[in-house]
Amino acid sequence: MGTELVQISNTGAPKHEERAKPEVIPQSGERNARTFYIETFGCQMNVHDSEKVAGTLVARGYRPVDNHADAELIFYNTCSIREKAAEKVFSHLGALKKAYRQNPKTIAVLGCVAQQEGERIFERAPQVSLVCGSASYTQLPDLLDQVEAGKRRVTGLSLDTDECFETELTRRDNPFRAYLTIIEGCDQRCSFCVVPMTRGPERSRPSETILDECRRLVDEGYIEIQLLGQIVNNWRDPSSRRLSFAELLSRVAEVPGVRRVRFTTSHPRYFTPDIVQAIDTHPALCDQVHLPVQSGSSRVLARMLRGYTREEYLEKINCVRSAKRAISISTDIIVGFCGESNEDFERTISLLEIVEYDQVFSFKYSPRPNTPAAGFEDSVAEEEKGRRLAELLERQRLIQLRRNQMLVGQEFEVLVESFQTRLQQAVGRTTSNRVVNFPGEPGWIGRAINVRVTAAGPNSLVGVRADQSFSDSAATR
Ligand code: 5AD
Repeated sequence: MGTELVQISNTGAPKHEERAKPEVIPQSGERNARTFYIETFGCQMNVHDSEKVAGTLVARGYRPVDNHADAELIFYNTCSIREKAAEKVFSHLGALKKAYRQNPKTIAVLGCVAQQEGERIFERAPQVSLVCGSASYTQLPDLLDQVEAGKRRVTGLSLDTDECFETELTRRDNPFRAYLTIIEGCDQRCSFCVVPMTRGPERSRPSETILDECRRLVDEGYIEIQLLGQIVNNWRDPSSRRLSFAELLSRVAEVPGVRRVRFTTSHPRYFTPDIVQAIDTHPALCDQVHLPVQSGSSRVLARMLRGYTREEYLEKINCVRSAKRAISISTDIIVGFCGESNEDFERTISLLEIVEYDQVFSFKYSPRPNTPAAGFEDSVAEEEKGRRLAELLERQRLIQLRRNQMLVGQEFEVLVESFQTRLQQAVGRTTSNRVVNFPGEPGWIGRAINVRVTAAGPNSLVGVRADQSFSDSAATR
């Protein structure tokens, strides 16, 4: 999954404001409420964690603001999947220190860098008051009380938990698409990956709690639900119902009013044919699967401790391709992993050509502390990693262009997410997760509109609204 910087707007869409739940009523008067600002780095899990943290804060009487200048408390929810992402936080902290030298703010570092660096953050950035990893978010209210009481260097860093961060106090940022975490943490220990060290042990939420939350979300007007987990398809129902992941997908898709269901990220090792059958059976399950391969070479996959070979991965792809409807497939790839030879890299390129992914998120290998691969030699030179990445991107660009151009003339339901005023264009996604731009109106945001594709580039489609009689029936609210 892409891990580019995401910034959450604290104010949320107006629709969201209307939906504030009773328990989220600020305890202190709006005007006197302490203000906070959260900036989020990294994956959807982090984005959703920030929504839950924001909900917790609002319930305790804090008021969200849109920028750090207006905030008394500043939260950075951080990502440490690659070194660059982790370092970004420290440069942000440095800038804050400079900007507010005269009038220091209360600063908290949350998430993966918090967990990974722990108290060392106080050494590098003494202006930070609170450091808290995601496995300790349930203790946030107590930790905040300590900070507010003037205590310095407050920490929540224990990984010893079997709890999920369950809260109804979520302040969701998107008015029609809701993230919903079903499994937290990770026990896989892929040799390159820092997540088991930063997010703690794997723990699944019970099916009934998940389905209750889905029903609540639909009541609140959400039409797309995105189930989240580091390895979402390793979800195991801890309740006596013992639903399988595919059964859970079906139950979520059957919740009346759910229009689209996505799930991310799947691990190929646990990707079973019943998931494809569920997608085939339930139209609400989007025709999209994200299945990170990481490398096309079995030799490299073994060093990565991924638990599958190239051939086994391709069998999973065949299973997805055998579905009754076309399912788009995206992936993550690391280039330049320890010991990756030119030949290994060519295996990755040949896999791209065989699978013909609809989207690829690719990264140069970045050694991470305390991972098994930190002990391997980082043998591929930075320059060569760059060369391989550029080649991979170019090959994939051509594949996407080819695949997207085959869609010209076809019609798709597009869920509108935003509106570009300058171009007077609506921007939305098909259920296969392709971005479509088409002439529209601002009022279409959150509606499903049928669109005929008129042109295609490697990363998006252009279209026009299809016949009125089709499209209006697609609007759900
Ligand atoms: N270096 C580069 N990329 C990494 N990823 C995870 N760890 C690393 C690392 N150490 C990539 C993987 C993963 C995605 C979220 O980030 O491709 O699927």
